[in-house]
Amino acid sequence: MKSFHFSDCILGAGLWCLFCLIRPKQGGILRNEDVQCTSKSEGKGVRKIKKIEGVASTLFVPMVARIDVSKRFPEFFYDEKSLELEEFLPEAAWKGASEYTNIVSSSRYYNMDNMTVAFIEKHKTCNVVFLGAGLDTAYHRITKRLGWRDTHYYGVDLPEVIEKRKEFCGVDSREVMIGGDMFAMEWVDSVDTGLPTLLLVSGVFQYFREPKILAFIRALKRAFVHGELIFDATSTSGLKFTNHFIKRTGHADARMYFSVDDCQEFAEKCDVTLLECRGFFKDALQILKGKLKLTTRMVMKFTDRTKRTVILHLKLNP
Ligand SMILES: C[S@@+](CC[C@H](N)C(=O)[O-])C[C@H]1O[C@@H](n2cnc3c(N)ncnc32)[C@H](O)[C@@H]1O
Repeated sequence: MKSFHFSDCILGAGLWCLFCLIRPKQGGILRNEDVQCTSKSEGKGVRKIKKIEGVASTLFVPMVARIDVSKRFPEFFYDEKSLELEEFLPEAAWKGASEYTNIVSSSRYYNMDNMTVAFIEKHKTCNVVFLGAGLDTAYHRITKRLGWRDTHYYGVDLPEVIEKRKEFCGVDSREVMIGGDMFAMEWVDSVDTGLPTLLLVSGVFQYFREPKILAFIRALKRAFVHGELIFDATSTSGLKFTNHFIKRTGHADARMYFSVDDCQEFAEKCDVTLLECRGFFKDALQILKGKLKLTTRMVMKFTDRTKRTVILHLKLNP
């Protein structure tokens, strides 16, 4: 049975109060009402972002986090492409962020980037597939670090999001963007499934129910003989906390359902091998020592200690 520390108790009791201090003033999910953004490079050109509902409405939240942390803490996380895109973001995108929520998103990217780099370095010729890619700029961060190598990059998201992404981020000639429902598996036809393949699902599974995730992982297992899957997950208690917050801020359409309390148990349920179950903040706490607010640091420590948010790395086949 998991040991319970007295400090957990103190931290836990203080969390609700801290939550009031760090929570975004207007909610973390963006709902755009035909926002217009002008850009210097387009002169008088106007970019019109149509109303985006539900999961897709969360599109700008992680980008805002990447920009904020790149400016404030480049020694921890630096995303040149997101900084370049800042001028295109609608003003409303900035509402709702806090130091803590921005550190959570950036820590997820920080860890997943490092895991991706390790995979590419190990496998040389391989695929890297971002499922539910949104406006993530991981492709740019990774190729900036590693150069081109013999890596095939793919991004999959709903067709309307891929269109937004192309409009926003552009598409590099070495990046294949596929519009479609990732659960439908049609995107697999565009990928050489014989190659070692890293599938990354960042900030997506939470919005779906467990049976759908399990069926999806089984389908990935069948499709990718040499496949590995990396995704982030929240614990049941973390999910309750987040949903309470989502409800309070009026974004019921972004409610979260999927949680993982025990990484090993979950891997066994999917009949795959657990390679790693990693907390978000070990490196962030070290690199940003003395630079974060006390409240942010306390919540980060509590979250890691209680495994409220983790990154799972699974090997799909023996
Ligand atoms: C919170 S965003 C995360 C985006 C990106 N992975 C990141 O970390 O910045 C969730 C993304 O999942 C995408 N998504 C939701 N359901 C999907 C589906 N069935 N197929 C493909 N993408 C989906 C949304 O369109 C959105 O881009």
